[in-house]
Amino acid sequence: MSNKANDLIIRIGGEGGEGIISSGDMIAQAAARSGLEVLTFKTFPAEIRGGYAMYQIRFSHEPILSEGSGFNVLCCFNQEALDVNRHTIQKGNVLIYDFPGGDIAEEQNIDGVICYPVPMSKIAKEELNTYRSKNMVAMGTISELFSIAKESLRELIEEKFGKKGKEVVEVNFKALDAGAKHAREHLKKIDPFKMDPGKPQENVIIISGNEAIGLGAMLAQVRYFSAYPITPATEVAIFLSRMLPKVNGNLVQAEDEIASLANVIGASYGGVKSMTATSGPGLSLMQELIGMASMMEVPVVIADVQRGGPSTGLPTKHEQSDLFLAALGSHGDASKVVISPEGVEDCIYLTVEAFNIAEKYQIPVLVLSDGSLGFRTSSIKKPDPKSVRIVNRQEYKPGTNGDKPFERYELTKNGISPMSKPGQPGGNYISTGLEHAPSSAPRYTPANHTAMLDKRFGKLDDLEDFFPPTEADHQEGATLGVIAWGSTIGTAREAIKLARAEGVKVAGLYPKLVWPLPVKAMEAFGKKYPKILVPEINKQGQFAHIIKMKTDMKPISYNIYGGLPFTPKMILDKIKEIAK
Ligand code: COA
Repeated sequence: MSNKANDLIIRIGGEGGEGIISSGDMIAQAAARSGLEVLTFKTFPAEIRGGYAMYQIRFSHEPILSEGSGFNVLCCFNQEALDVNRHTIQKGNVLIYDFPGGDIAEEQNIDGVICYPVPMSKIAKEELNTYRSKNMVAMGTISELFSIAKESLRELIEEKFGKKGKEVVEVNFKALDAGAKHAREHLKKIDPFKMDPGKPQENVIIISGNEAIGLGAMLAQVRYFSAYPITPATEVAIFLSRMLPKVNGNLVQAEDEIASLANVIGASYGGVKSMTATSGPGLSLMQELIGMASMMEVPVVIADVQRGGPSTGLPTKHEQSDLFLAALGSHGDASKVVISPEGVEDCIYLTVEAFNIAEKYQIPVLVLSDGSLGFRTSSIKKPDPKSVRIVNRQEYKPGTNGDKPFERYELTKNGISPMSKPGQPGGNYISTGLEHAPSSAPRYTPANHTAMLDKRFGKLDDLEDFFPPTEADHQEGATLGVIAWGSTIGTAREAIKLARAEGVKVAGLYPKLVWPLPVKAMEAFGKKYPKILVPEINKQGQFAHIIKMKTDMKPISYNIYGGLPFTPKMILDKIKEIAK
């Protein structure tokens, strides 16, 4: 657990609707603007109002790998937040809580814990005449106690609530000041936590994982997006709805996920880079069309921001359980590619790579993000469009075939055949879900189906080399290697760092290409480390199964599936247990 002043974790808990998310976002933004590294985690119920909502902000002067283990400061807006978190409060922590005047009935006195009562509800109701501003009172106290730049918070209040009217902004300014004043006049600061500001940098932005997927799509030159709203993926569409009109792109909210992918296939068939974003239930609906895109060899990118399932499941909670569906779904032998980012910055560049793969190999590519990564905000380096590699599809050029007619599905050496645009002279072809001859006319002969399936899978033979290399963090003398995927990678990196600091030898492998598996990199790693641990957030050990299916490795699965991510400490404890 973090306990240094240069690595601070603040957790705010309360009821959905009390503005937990707004206050957490503002604190995170203000800290990032002051030059600190920031990584956030939020979890809340599926209901629009009510239920326990939590926002956690980790600040540091160093790059942050994960949400961290536990917290230093807990701020409780109500009794439920206190009850939910009570068992996790540690000696040395700070507890800020709504007392007196809120629904926390008793003054808190927890052994070894520094308790600061703040009458947030009372100040909001009695001094400001609006209970709504309770969150800003709490924010004022937090900013005073831990040196979060108040000027930035004021700017953020104006940016966030400006559209609600001047009065709303004014009352929230007063609430911020009242919270700070309470801390100055009534609380004796005896905790060691304080965040010295960093060095503000111009080329740093703070965005969420979902926005980063949208940004990556823009960098890759997406020009068409169609989706049906679904938690936790909707923010990708919201971001692109603001961006696409600026480049004459189009966004269509479809009637459902089936229609949205059909739209995307149509737009890409028309020659435009196209994408959709969804979550598990939507991905289930898209399965037939994924097969169709695979059969038609049309480049499409599908972002799946995973949530707890099956069915409607846990819409706002975290899980890595769509891997089987993404890799093995759709009927028949459907070739496709699945990649999975580890953090917010990765969401940008892996989405660009998703487009590159889709375009190069004319194939559906799935980007598997997840709820905690989608909602997470991080401070990251502003991307430089000039340094991003962009790959475009191989286009049909009339007149290059000599006397031969254009064959859309020509059997070429590398399996990739040029694509024409509808209406292009000499480039006519039929594109359907039916098996086809090289000319594109339907053909069902055994030899043709065999040749076409070999083409659709064979074209991926060099994918592992085309994709950025799988990162391996080797350690001499280690017998244990951890293989993590998706947003568990950051947590595994931190756990490995902690283990090494304790003298435990352990290596790490961080595959971002998860289907088809980068077998060369996996097997090379497996040969070096006899014990392999695969931590993942699903019941079945889905990635571990895929590793077993495609290599000789026998990984040890470590699975949790409670709707929350791993903490570094959980993986550290498992490493220590297995490395013995
Ligand atoms: N003054 C004025 N308005 C304030 C305020 C203040 N001090 N603090 C917050 N608000 C407003 C916010 O602007 C927001 O208004 P909006 O709805 O007009 O945007 C509203 O109060 C809620 O505050 P916010 O901070 O955004 O959220 P919260 O912490 O209260 O939690 C959620 C609410 C996020 C848990 C809940 O609304 C939600 O979205 N749940 C998930 C729903 C979902 O996705 N379900 C899945 C369906 S399948």
